[in-house]
Amino acid sequence: MSRKFCVGGNWKMNGNKAEIAEICKGLTAGPLDPNTEVVVGCPAPYLSYARGLLPASVGVAGQNCFKVAKGAYTGEISPAMLKDIGADWVIIGHSERRQIFNESDELIADKTAHALAEGLKVIACIGETLQERESGQTEAVVFRQTKALANVIKDWTNVVVAYEPVWAIGTGKTATPQQAQEVHAALRKWFTENVSADVAASVRIQYGGSVTAANCRELASQPDIDGFLVGGASLKPEFIQIVNARQ
Ligand code: G3H
Repeated sequence: MSRKFCVGGNWKMNGNKAEIAEICKGLTAGPLDPNTEVVVGCPAPYLSYARGLLPASVGVAGQNCFKVAKGAYTGEISPAMLKDIGADWVIIGHSERRQIFNESDELIADKTAHALAEGLKVIACIGETLQERESGQTEAVVFRQTKALANVIKDWTNVVVAYEPVWAIGTGKTATPQQAQEVHAALRKWFTENVSADVAASVRIQYGGSVTAANCRELASQPDIDGFLVGGASLKPEFIQIVNARQ
């Protein structure tokens, strides 16, 4: 089963109107590989602005959402609100949400289930810390995080899994293509054994963690790497080269 390459840019808490206009100008000029799905994760206050500046072919994602539609949850954003202003995706469970904001596997699963029910597509992030990797826990950790998602996801069509080893995020220390491929292949095997062979074959698994124009091609050549979730480099012109890594 062929899986469309999917590259997300996660701008995190960066940018202002002028900088976002510049990034959107670059993405509009492209050229972007038509065989790659492109999504940008934009800070919430600028989602509508970015949506208005980007070509329709580029998806726009919130970077977080809450697990219910509305109510007394000061500071939270619902999937319905994201949809209402033109976002079609949301990033859930990023390690910065897990670590800085103490989000649990269960909360992330609840958010994912609700976002999918509301019609958003979800980039669901998983990944181990350096300590977990060094103590041989990588598979146990990513399987546990994926299991929490699998407990609530009935249809994986609108889910992209982003494997982001925490030790590689923003550190300049990218996983080697072999290290990333090894975890992606293990995840696909986990899907075969715990969800279904169809989902294992069709679900897209992105790699994230210090992806750059310089390292993206070799990572993209790995059989189980179906795209990237890019942080720092998504704010720079080189993001176009990362989108085009398979060309
Ligand atoms: O969501 C993106 C990841 O956190 C990767 O960030 O490319 O700056 O390492 P990075």
